[in-house]
Amino acid sequence: MISAATVAAWLHHAATLLDEHKACLTDLDAAIGDADHGVNIARGFNAVAQKIAAQPDQSLGLLFKTAGMTLMSAVGGASGMLYGNFFLKAAAVAGDRNRLDDADLLAVLEAGRDGIVQRGRAELGDKTMIDAWTPALATLREALAAEQPLTTALTRCAATAQQAMAATIPLQARKGRASYLGERSVGHQDPGATSTYLLLRSLSETVTNAALLTQEQPT
Ligand SMILES: Nc1ncnc2c1ncn2[C@@H]1O[C@H](COP(=O)(O)OP(=O)(O)O)[C@@H](O)[C@H]1O
Ligand SMILES: [Mg+2]
Repeated sequence: MISAATVAAWLHHAATLLDEHKACLTDLDAAIGDADHGVNIARGFNAVAQKIAAQPDQSLGLLFKTAGMTLMSAVGGASGMLYGNFFLKAAAVAGDRNRLDDADLLAVLEAGRDGIVQRGRAELGDKTMIDAWTPALATLREALAAEQPLTTALTRCAATAQQAMAATIPLQARKGRASYLGERSVGHQDPGATSTYLLLRSLSETVTNAALLTQEQPT
């Protein structure tokens, strides 16, 4: 189970983590793109964090909708549209709920990933953020089906995203700006797969921290 407060904490933590890795993300994009991914994504998530801090106690649908609309307007470039669509599709599935059980959370994340595919038409192996999302969510699905606790399942999901991020290095880009480089895109890690890993790591860390706090509460 995950509450709206924990989702809000996730988005704040994501903004911090992406901001910390802004230079690294931009360096990756300098190699196979136009050197703006870190700046784009950090600006976008910092704007999301500010917006949601100004509007506390929203339903999950409204929280995700705010995130999606903010990313679309604050981020230039492909990734603003794609991550924006992720959160708008997540919002439609979350609706007016204030908490999600584990299966609902999986459904929300998968709907978001499907939104990225609808918008960007990337297939697995095209060297995009989809190469991180799809294996990571498959791991989450398997771990939850095996009745692992959400904290363990999300830790495994983030670990798969990290491996998948590194596995984009030998791929040739077939979508987005990096595809213009053709074979010269081989040998570089995809920036979007890297920001996706950071997003999933921040989700895992936030849910683990929230679980530790809950256990400490008197019964
Ligand atoms: N069609 C697409 N589908 C999925 N992801 C994509 C697509 N095109 C680009 N991306 C992702 O977006 C990242 C680049 O984001 P960014 O640098 O912010 O945008 P831009 O390429 O417009 O400068 C890539 O590393 C890749 O992961
Ligand atoms: Mg770019």
